[in-house]
Amino acid sequence: MHFTVAIDGPAAAGKGTISRAIAREFGFAHLDTGLLYRAVGMKGGDPIVAARSLSPDDLARDGLRSLAAGEAASRVAVLPEVRAALVDFQRDFARREGGAVLDGRDIGTVICPEAEVKLFVTASAETRARRRWLEAGEDGSYEEVLAQVRARDARDIGRADAPLLAAPDAITLDTTEMTVSQAVEFAKDVIAQRLAERA
Ligand code: CDP
Repeated sequence: MHFTVAIDGPAAAGKGTISRAIAREFGFAHLDTGLLYRAVGMKGGDPIVAARSLSPDDLARDGLRSLAAGEAASRVAVLPEVRAALVDFQRDFARREGGAVLDGRDIGTVICPEAEVKLFVTASAETRARRRWLEAGEDGSYEEVLAQVRARDARDIGRADAPLLAAPDAITLDTTEMTVSQAVEFAKDVIAQRLAERA
C-alpha cells in the first residue's frame, strides 16, 4: 500500500510531534526532512557538494537539533541545487510500501503533490518561539528566539524555490490554542477517515 501523509508548516508549529505520533499510530515510516537540510548546513564547505554527497553518518551527527543548525539549514535551503539534490530521496521515501509521513516545508506542494493527506500545521510566531525557547532549556532570551523564528519564517516564505506555502488542498491545523494531544487527535481523525475512504 502507498499512502503518503505530507505535513508542512513553519518552525516549531508541532509538525515533528504530530508526525511521530501518526507514524506510531498507523505504522508508517517517518522522515523529518528538516534533518536533511540541517545536515547539509552543518557539514560545512560547499552546500551543493554537501547535499549531493549526504550520507547516513551526516544525518546521525550531534547538534542537528540545535538553534544554530536550524539557522544553517534555512540558509542552505534557499539554494535550488541543494533542494534538487534531495528530491529523489524524499520521493522514494514517500512512496515506500506500507505508508510514510514526511514533515517539512514543501512536501505537499513540491515533493509529493499526490500525497493522500496534506496537513499545514501552524501557530502564532509568539507561541512557536515560546515552545522553541522552552525546548532549548530557556537558553538565551525569549525575545532572541522570537526574532530568530520571525527571520526564519521570512526566509522560508520569501525564497523563490519551493517557498513555505500551504498546498491548495491542504487542511490547515492552527495549534496556537491547542494542546499536543488535541492536535494529534485532529490529525489522526483526518488520516483515519482518508484510509477508510480508500478501503
Ligand atoms: O523544526 P524546525 O521547523 O525549526 O526546523 P526544520 O523543520 O528542521 O527545518 C529547518 C529549516 O530547513 C527550515 O527553516 C527550512 O528553511 C528548511 N527546510 C526546507 O526548506 N524544506 C524542508 N522540507 C524542510 C526544512
